[in-house]
Amino acid sequence: MSEIAEDAVAGDAPTSRMARHSAPMVVVEHLSRTYDSGADAVHALRDVSFEIPRGKLVALVGRSGSGKTTLLNCIGGLDQPTSGRVIVNGTDVTSLDEGGRTRLRRDDLAFVFQTFGLLPMLSAAENVGLPLRLQKLDNATRADRVAHLLDLVGLSGQSMQRPGELSGGQQQRVAIARALANSPRLLIADEPTGQLDSDTGAAIMALLQSVVASEHTTAIISTHDETLQAMAGASLHLADGVLI
Ligand SMILES: Nc1ncnc2c1ncn2[C@@H]1O[C@H](COP(=O)(O)OP(=O)(O)OP(=O)(O)O)[C@@H](O)[C@H]1O
Ligand SMILES: [Mg+2]
Repeated sequence: MSEIAEDAVAGDAPTSRMARHSAPMVVVEHLSRTYDSGADAVHALRDVSFEIPRGKLVALVGRSGSGKTTLLNCIGGLDQPTSGRVIVNGTDVTSLDEGGRTRLRRDDLAFVFQTFGLLPMLSAAENVGLPLRLQKLDNATRADRVAHLLDLVGLSGQSMQRPGELSGGQQQRVAIARALANSPRLLIADEPTGQLDSDTGAAIMALLQSVVASEHTTAIISTHDETLQAMAGASLHLADGVLI
């Protein structure tokens, strides 16, 4: 069920659904992640706790090695914490088995990475349409959705171009459109502007802000850049695995 439909029924919904609807999108409780053990142990995250309300865009900042990627991977079910819990959209990610985590990543989450991760042999439109191929949509509906997503990221005119024929900023726009294809509840972006110059990075951050609002999603975005941090509604600061 879409967010909009859920809003429409919230007025006469059972209490449990209303509680779920107003609950934070992400709850992180006493999260720790230690790599290896013994004398060489790396404490990538130490007792990190926070919440992200629905509809918010939150910047995750911290120096290299502070634990940003580790935290995003634990939230997205790509990594298992050593202790603590992560709840996304009411589901305890840390207690899911591999199948459950795969379903969560497919149905509720979308990832955007520094290196874009587009398929080089496919056009922009084909890359954006890829996640929709898992759904039983007819060709016309799928084409309409792809056209809407490319329009959303300002690339209607580049739909037939392959990644190699696009600038870095344009490639990241394609990756964002693809991430939004399945209407994710939560968008997780790990340094999406890390390979871009500062103006292009600011444009991508502005785009993320506008799509979070228009697509009714929630986002957590890691960045080194203080200007980009300032553009987000809220920020979390990690230092040596500790939230400060
Ligand atoms: N697979 C791993 N095995 C051992 N140590 C790891 C592993 N992954 C990360 N680490 C360590 O955990 C700490 C946090 O790393 P992480 O990648 O989360 O930092 P980061 O804030 O994303 O850094 P960057 O800004 O450079 O991307 C670092 O000390 C890193 O060396
Ligand atoms: Mg990182």
